[in-house]
Amino acid sequence: MSALIELDDIQVHFKVRTRRSTTPVALRAVDGVSLAVERSQCLGVVGESGCGKSTLAGVLVGLTAPTAGAVRYDGQDVGVHRSKELRRRVQMVFQDPVASLNPRRRVRSVLAELIDCHDLVPDAGMTSALNSLMDMVNLPARVLDARPRELSGGQRQRVAIARALAVRPDVLVADEAVSALDVSAQATVVNLLADLRAELGLTIVFISHDLGIIRTLCDRVAVMYAGRVVEEGAAQTVFTAAQHPYTRALLRAAPDLHRRGTGSRPQALEGEPAGALDVITGCPFQPRCPEAEAVCSTAPPAYVRSGSHRTACIHAAG
Ligand SMILES: Nc1ncnc2c1ncn2[C@@H]1O[C@H](COP(=O)(O)OP(=O)(O)OP(=O)(O)O)[C@@H](O)[C@H]1O
Ligand SMILES: [Mg+2]
Repeated sequence: MSALIELDDIQVHFKVRTRRSTTPVALRAVDGVSLAVERSQCLGVVGESGCGKSTLAGVLVGLTAPTAGAVRYDGQDVGVHRSKELRRRVQMVFQDPVASLNPRRRVRSVLAELIDCHDLVPDAGMTSALNSLMDMVNLPARVLDARPRELSGGQRQRVAIARALAVRPDVLVADEAVSALDVSAQATVVNLLADLRAELGLTIVFISHDLGIIRTLCDRVAVMYAGRVVEEGAAQTVFTAAQHPYTRALLRAAPDLHRRGTGSRPQALEGEPAGALDVITGCPFQPRCPEAEAVCSTAPPAYVRSGSHRTACIHAAG
């Protein structure tokens, strides 16, 4: 099966000013990421704050132009300016539904405008299209007449998902879409995403700090560190037989995986992540890695592959 979305050696550099230099320097937010997401797959993306997850999400939906590398959709290079049709097909759901919804507008008018803009439904079918959208995200039809501030956090996030679904996308990129919600609202939204995937065949890229949620929702996981994918594979394998020392450290540090586990306690990950301004010659995780050898600081590790699993570490088992 060919991938629906493919990223090929994507780099995103931001020019930033620092105190140390008079000219702007390049901050490597994403530093050579290749990924392929198959149709109807759910790919989880994890990694510490600042490792480039949201920047990568921006590249996937076309909000951020890569400095280098290619994005392919259904085998076609998408180029720098995406067509309206392609923008419709890849939608984003953000962390903060309050900031991403206009507080003054009723839900009905926001959704109707989007549907109109893409000519997806004849005028006579609008009411039923809006009702079925509410149905899809398990909200009562009366929510259509509400303004965002009259809704709970979980309801607002479901409205944000309805807004993304209104244009009938193939792909939903959810960037920390449940992080701001309480545990029960999180469960509702996560179950909704799982159902939508099963019912509509939606492809989902789910970015989260929460490994417990990634484990329940995703079938593949990409682990990012310092703008790179350090390990990627089937969720089952990543969670039970992680190869990269960073992935193993993340798993040991995850409270959600320890709550019901064997009684082991989460262990904090020591050291600071590499700064995006640092020039990295070897493995970016080397300064914090308990297994680092001399070679790790001199050359970036190539991927060690085993089936569809890959790990950027010299110690990984092939
Ligand atoms: N527009 C921008 N201009 C300059 N630097 C940026 C910009 N956007 C992101 N960065 C920097 O790029 C790096 C990656 O940021 P990004 O937001 O992608 O990380 P993240 O993994 O999503 O983090 P978090 O988990 O906190 O959301 C960070 O060092 C960030 O400060
Ligand atoms: Mg982010």
